[in-house]
Amino acid sequence: MARVIACADQPALSLGDLVQGLNDSGFDPNDEDSFAAVAPLLKGLAANRSFLADIALAELKDRCGRQSLENRYSSQVIMLHRASEKYFIRANFWPSGEDSLFKSSGASPFFYHVPHDHNFSFLTVGYLGPGYWSEYYEYDYAGVTGIPGEKVDLRYVEKSRLEEGKVMLYRAHKDVHNQLPAEKLSVSINIMHASPALPFLDQYRFDVKNCEIAGILTRSSSEALLALAASHGGGNGLDLAESFAAAHPSDRIRYAALRELASAAWDVDAGLEILSRGRTSANAFVAAMSARETARIAANRAWLER
Ligand SMILES: [Fe+2]
Repeated sequence: MARVIACADQPALSLGDLVQGLNDSGFDPNDEDSFAAVAPLLKGLAANRSFLADIALAELKDRCGRQSLENRYSSQVIMLHRASEKYFIRANFWPSGEDSLFKSSGASPFFYHVPHDHNFSFLTVGYLGPGYWSEYYEYDYAGVTGIPGEKVDLRYVEKSRLEEGKVMLYRAHKDVHNQLPAEKLSVSINIMHASPALPFLDQYRFDVKNCEIAGILTRSSSEALLALAASHGGGNGLDLAESFAAAHPSDRIRYAALRELASAAWDVDAGLEILSRGRTSANAFVAAMSARETARIAANRAWLER
């Protein structure tokens, strides 16, 4: 399961103290031990019982101007600090089944009951309330190709919750959790690894009953724009999609480029010809996804050719 970091009670820190401590310590979010070493700083912020309400009030007075600029998440999150591409700090609100927000929105906006891993590491502390529950699993990312339906060696660890003051490290591409609602509204605070590479690193949704990858959660704007480039970008757009298919460092983007080139082809056979390049790729992900897409098109050929 996500690594619990044993951590004694700490004197209360301000948010500025935490940021300074992270910067002074040479905090490296690529390194698991470096994350664990700053646990006392995060626990110190959690001992500060007034800072979050102060920030929330200041944001409301400012009509949430800073959140509008810096927060790419839903209203479940208050962005607390984003100063570099190295890390950011946020607060998360976890409603219970009794809260009106949950009753009106349902579980899905809060990622409850959606078993998933993360394509980034983060350190978290329970700040308020009993804490959300999770059923924790681990898996071996290196042994996975990343195809929906692929069997995964998911190992169940335990069910536990993120109580006030408990510090946990969620390790990228290793820890999986099925997050369940807290019994009462709860708040956690995270130090998150930030990197421009994240949109190209896969995050999976899992079917924990059947031990399978249920889907790829990561979406980058490149994939959406490739569809436009291939179908509506003229010769330049096709050239761009071809260059992405041939040499983009992300196998997910190389496959997406092939898929969109196939989709833009003038007939079904021309599209299948493009996908055949992917099916013979030396990359297992590109080959398997191209084979899936070929099968999907073949199954729907009569409809496509109407
Ligand atoms: Fe999660």
